[in-house]
Amino acid sequence: MVACLFFEPSTRTRLSFEAAILKLGGQVLSMENGSVSSSAFKGESLEDTTRVVQNYVDCIVVRHPQDGSVSKMAEVASVPIINAGDGGNQHPTQALLDLYTIKKSCGRLDNLRVAFGFDPKYSRTIKSAAALLALYPKNKLTFIYPKGLEPDPNFIKALQKSGATVSLSNKVEDGCDGDVFYTNRLQQERFKSKAQFEKLRKIMTLKPAHLKGKKVVVLNPLPRIDEVDPAVDSMPNALYFDQPKNGLYVRAALLLYALDML
Ligand code: NCD
Repeated sequence: MVACLFFEPSTRTRLSFEAAILKLGGQVLSMENGSVSSSAFKGESLEDTTRVVQNYVDCIVVRHPQDGSVSKMAEVASVPIINAGDGGNQHPTQALLDLYTIKKSCGRLDNLRVAFGFDPKYSRTIKSAAALLALYPKNKLTFIYPKGLEPDPNFIKALQKSGATVSLSNKVEDGCDGDVFYTNRLQQERFKSKAQFEKLRKIMTLKPAHLKGKKVVVLNPLPRIDEVDPAVDSMPNALYFDQPKNGLYVRAALLLYALDML
């Protein structure tokens, strides 16, 4: 029995975890809108919530708006805790399904040219996928973004320390000649002001003209908002509607691994 505790909105992550649990023959305790529907609303700490919920289940999947919150839970937990996204920090299970998608499509995870656009400052999926790709040899990673959404210099240093070659760009075109273009929406909920989001949201959009005659595959964790023109969907480059199914398989495997059932 697995608890899915979601303190932030989710479509794919929660439903694919729950589908995986049910397909494996397990049972699920599902909590949506945890910030208002659980005792978090009354001020209970995440650590105390963990101490309680672990009595009912064998594993806890959690998404929370605060960076680092999931590791705090793991520190007090006696059951496996799976991070389904902690604020603007990490989204490791998404990275696993992203790399699975890349491996299926490109046949390898090393020696790749991968571009990431267009919010490397706040996007946890970009941070997690880049960190995982940097562990494989000879990957060249390019971050593409409008001014104001620069990635954290410490994040870039960590990628370089892992062995990746990193470059930065302000041009959508610079992502189109490589192997993978990993796109993600601007993370509106993590912006300091709505005005800044509105100013930046439409500056960069991947369009069919950028991809004409190019082999690059386009990924996106979804939801897609302004960053990819829907006209790209029918092009052979677009892989983002294959990713959700890969997420189901990868999360099923991860649950079995976490529960020592592989
Ligand atoms: C992502 C997330 O929650 O970070 N969504 C997902 O899990 N597929 C991407 C996003 O919300 O932009």
